[in-house]
Amino acid sequence: MGTVRAMASARFMCFLNAASSTKTLARTGCSVCFRRYICSSPPRSQSCMSAWVIDQYGTNGVLRYTEEITAPTIKSATDVMIKVCAASLNPLDMSMRGGYGSKLLKLRRDPLSMMNNESEFPLILGRDVSGVVVDCGSEVTYVAPGDEVWASVPPWKQGSLAEFVTLSEYEVSHKPKLLSHIEAASIPYVANTALSALVNTGGLCRDSASNKRVLITGGSGGVGTFSIQLLKAWGAHVTVTCSQNAEGLVRGLGADEVVDYTAGDVAEQLEKMERFDVILDGVGGDTEQWALGLLKPWSGAKYVTLVTPLLFSMDSMGLFGGAINAGVTLHNKAIQGVLSNGVFYRWGFYAPDGPALDEVSRLVDSGKILPVVEAHFPFTQVPQAFLKLEQGHARGKTVVTVAEEDSRQADEMAQRTYTDTAETEQEMQETLKQN
Ligand SMILES: NC(=O)c1ccc[n+]([C@@H]2O[C@H](COP(=O)([O-])OP(=O)(O)OC[C@H]3O[C@@H](n4cnc5c(N)ncnc54)[C@H](OP(=O)(O)O)[C@@H]3O)[C@@H](O)[C@H]2O)c1
Repeated sequence: MGTVRAMASARFMCFLNAASSTKTLARTGCSVCFRRYICSSPPRSQSCMSAWVIDQYGTNGVLRYTEEITAPTIKSATDVMIKVCAASLNPLDMSMRGGYGSKLLKLRRDPLSMMNNESEFPLILGRDVSGVVVDCGSEVTYVAPGDEVWASVPPWKQGSLAEFVTLSEYEVSHKPKLLSHIEAASIPYVANTALSALVNTGGLCRDSASNKRVLITGGSGGVGTFSIQLLKAWGAHVTVTCSQNAEGLVRGLGADEVVDYTAGDVAEQLEKMERFDVILDGVGGDTEQWALGLLKPWSGAKYVTLVTPLLFSMDSMGLFGGAINAGVTLHNKAIQGVLSNGVFYRWGFYAPDGPALDEVSRLVDSGKILPVVEAHFPFTQVPQAFLKLEQGHARGKTVVTVAEEDSRQADEMAQRTYTDTAETEQEMQETLKQN
């Protein structure tokens, strides 16, 4: 009860039209305790569902609402069908709407469609889901119909801006009990990205992160706000770059040191600090020109950037040419990093991982990670949600309510508007201290 109250008080709302802003959280770990059930749900009879689709790549005008898209079915014994309660948007949705990654993703979806020149449309975007299991394949044991789950939806699968989505059992995790669907939908994609980048690529984990110095560039966005909390839960020392007006937010989430990149040369400011063990770069551009020099030399320190040219190269040069080009680029930069001061240069990628989300779920329920929902839109306003995303300057996540039940909950949230931001940030800090 105390924890619930603490989390409620930590909610950080800054509304944009019907939008609400909340702060929630996640956690870490690697092992999963597989709770097994026998699924006995009846097959679904509904053949069509409502969704936002695109029939071609382009700007916001290509988004189309329909109630006649074919509903997904259970095709494999390990499939799990989820009724979507809430979804969220990521920069990738905006990029995919414009055709980013289309060549590789089309191949990943269906290799035969490339050979037969078949269309990938209609495509459904949306990379996060929080919802309820409605059907399972015969071999699914970890979840059962009726379970509340959350997951990130790989970009090669049909997305969550729809009534139903089907994922594999491995991709699905039990939703944190303390979060609403709106709050839960803000976490899975950024959590899977952060964990993949920090653990698989950056070499950090719960047991090794303590006292490591980590720099996060772009700390005020979706990946940044999650990563700060995860790293603090692991005991790391976290430095963040962000705009001046996001300082309160990132400090509230636990950032130890904050550098305002709008107040002069950010590299110069960071050079005055002790060197870092890991840098997670969510900004890209010329950041890598100066960031590698901020790492501890010859100590296994790693620079991991999330802004990579891989898919862009494949889009512009073709799958083979693009892969070769990206591989050569990565190889050259990695060699340069090692030769110049013994640091590792790496590219980080999102990877679907239900067991990792199980650990995040436990961190959320123990009060160590809070969700950060900046804006919330009803399902009727998906184009407006994309416009919000396009404006940039994210402070956490933009969430879309898909199912009716959560619309009511969202309205209640929207009525609890906080006007005193300073007070809210103080509440967040106090909550994190208590936990
Ligand atoms: N490789 C992968 O698999 C993968 C997966 C997920 C995300 N990504 C990429 O990683 C990046 C971050 O993702 P996200 O979801 O966190 O994006 P996001 O939610 O849009 O956040 C980006 C944040 O960076 C801030 N920012 C912009 N320019 C900055 C600068 N020069 N220095 C410091 N902060 C700056 C923005 O706020 P202000 O503009 O107000 O400062 C915003 O808060 C995106 O480029 C995304 O495409 C890659």
